Amino acid sequence: MRGITKEFPGVRALADVTLTVRRGEIHAICGENGAGKSTLMNVLSGVYPFGTYTGDIVVDGEVMRFAGIRASEQAGIAIIHQELALIPELSITENIFLGNEVATGGRIDWVEATSRARELLERVGLREDPDTQIKHLGVGKQQLVEIAKALSRDVELLILDEPTAALNEGDSRHLLDIIRTLQGRGMTSIIISHKLAEIEAIADSITIIRDGRVVETLDVGAGGVDEDRIIRGMVGRSLDRRFPDRTPDIGEVFFEIRDWTVQHPAIPERLVAKSASLTVRRGEIVGLAGLMGAGRTELAMSIFGRSYGTYLSGTMFKDGRPIVLHNVQSAIDHGLAYVSEDRKQLGLNLLDTVKRSIVSAGLGKIARAGVVDDTREFRVAEDYRQQLRIKTPSVDDGVGTLSGGNQQKVVLAKWMFTDPELLILDEPTRGIDVGAKYEIYTIIQALAAAGKGVLLISSELPELLGIADRIYTVFEGRITDCIDAAGASPEALMRSMTRTRKKDVA
Ligand SMILES: Nc1ncnc2c1ncn2[C@@H]1O[C@H](COP(=O)(O)OP(=O)(O)OP(=O)(O)O)[C@@H](O)[C@H]1O
Ligand SMILES: [Mg+2]
Repeated sequence: MRGITKEFPGVRALADVTLTVRRGEIHAICGENGAGKSTLMNVLSGVYPFGTYTGDIVVDGEVMRFAGIRASEQAGIAIIHQELALIPELSITENIFLGNEVATGGRIDWVEATSRARELLERVGLREDPDTQIKHLGVGKQQLVEIAKALSRDVELLILDEPTAALNEGDSRHLLDIIRTLQGRGMTSIIISHKLAEIEAIADSITIIRDGRVVETLDVGAGGVDEDRIIRGMVGRSLDRRFPDRTPDIGEVFFEIRDWTVQHPAIPERLVAKSASLTVRRGEIVGLAGLMGAGRTELAMSIFGRSYGTYLSGTMFKDGRPIVLHNVQSAIDHGLAYVSEDRKQLGLNLLDTVKRSIVSAGLGKIARAGVVDDTREFRVAEDYRQQLRIKTPSVDDGVGTLSGGNQQKVVLAKWMFTDPELLILDEPTRGIDVGAKYEIYTIIQALAAAGKGVLLISSELPELLGIADRIYTVFEGRITDCIDAAGASPEALMRSMTRTRKKDVA
C-alpha cells in the first residue's frame, strides 16, 4: 500500500500510509485504539472501494482498483473483521459458502458443499459436523469457521482484525498455530492485535501506526523486538508499569448473593448458576475467574435484573436487606451497573450518537419534566469524552463510527454516569490498547476508592491478579474457590478455575 490517505467527515483516519508486506510472512499491525488499523485493512480489502481513498494498492507490482470486497477476493485477499460476521442460524457449510455457493445447473449441490466444508474444517483443525448451526459454536470455533470460509476462496493474503480478542488462551494458541501452519503452505497474513505477547511470538514484521501515520516497521527476525519495544513505538514512551499503584481501603460487605441458582433460558435441565454465593465489600474489587463457558457472564447477567436465564432460587442482599430485582430498570434503581462483554449486541445501540449512548442509562438525570435537556446531555457526554479520552471528532457523531476500543469506553461512560454502587465489568479491556487499559484500571480503582464495589470478570489472569483484591473462581456455574489476589500466582488461579469439586466459600 503506497501513500494511502483516507478521510471521514471531520477525521483524517489515515495520512500517507505506506505498508509493505512480503509474500509468505506474518505481518502484524499495532497501534492504539483509533490509530487507523481497521481502516487501513478496510481499504486493502475493498470495503472502502477505489475512489474513496488516495494512494495505491499494489499486488505483485500491479496497481489494484478494488470496486468492492468481491474484487479484492478475486485478487486473493480475504478479511476477517474485528466483529464476527457469521450468521448464527445457518450451518457451518451454509456460512462457508454463503454468496459463493457450490452449484451445478443453478442448484446448490449440498452433498458436494458439505464434503468441501468438511475438508476445509480439517485444514483449520476444527472437529465439528458441517451441519452444525453457528450459534452452537463458541467464538473460538467461529473464528476457525471464518478462516475456513476464507480458505474456500483460494486466499493468498489473509487479514485478521483482532482474531483473538474474544478468545481464551487455549483457543488463541490454537488459532495462532493454524495461522503458522497456513504460513508453512505459503499463505501471507496480516494480523491486528492488542495482545502484544502474541504479536511478539508470531509476527515476522510489525508495522506500528499512530494517529493515522506509520511510525515504523520492525523486523522481528533482526532481534531486539519485545513487548516493551512495541509499546514504545505505539505510545511514544515506555510503560514501566501495567497496573497503577493502589492502597485498597475496604469497608463492610454491602452486596451479597446466597445460594443463587439459575436455569438456562432454553434448556431447563441445565443450571447456569448452581447455588452460588458471593460477597462484595465497599471499596473492593472482586474478580470472577473461570474458563470460557464457566458461567461468569450468565451469573453476572442474572444478578443484573435477571437479564439472563430463569431465576430459580437464592437471595440477594444489599446493605444487609434482601432485595429483588425483576428487571434491568430495577437493577439500575438499586445502584447496579453492568458493562457487557458484547458491546455491539448488548452494550450499545450503534445507530445512536455518542452523547445519547453515554446518557442512555441515566436519562432521568438530564431530563426536566420528562424531557431530555440537550445542553446537559451534551455537557455530560463532553465531560466523559475528555475524562476517558474517547477519540471522536464530536459527541454528536454516531457511536457506530468509533473504533472498537473507543466504543468500549463509551459503554463504560454510560454506566459510570448512572453512579452505581456495584459496577459489574465483563471483560472491560477487551480490544483495548495497552495505554488505554492502564487508564481503565485507573478508573476502576478510582471507583473503588470512592467506596463503590466492583465485580470484575476477566479472562486475562494477569489483569485479575493485577487489580482485584479477591478472586472467586467459577467452574460450571459453581463458585469453587475464593482467593486473595495479593501473592497469588496465575498457576494457582488456573488450578482453582479447573477444579471441579466445590469447596464451600461465602
Ligand atoms: N465510518 C467511519 N466514519 C467516521 N469515522 C470513522 C469511521 N471509521 C473509522 N473512523 C475513525 O477513523 C479512526 C480510525 O479508526 P479505526 O477503526 O481504523 O481504528 P483502529 O486502529 O482499528 O482502532 P481499534 O484498536 O480501537 O480497533 C478513528 O478516529 C475512527 O473514529
Ligand atoms: Mg480496529
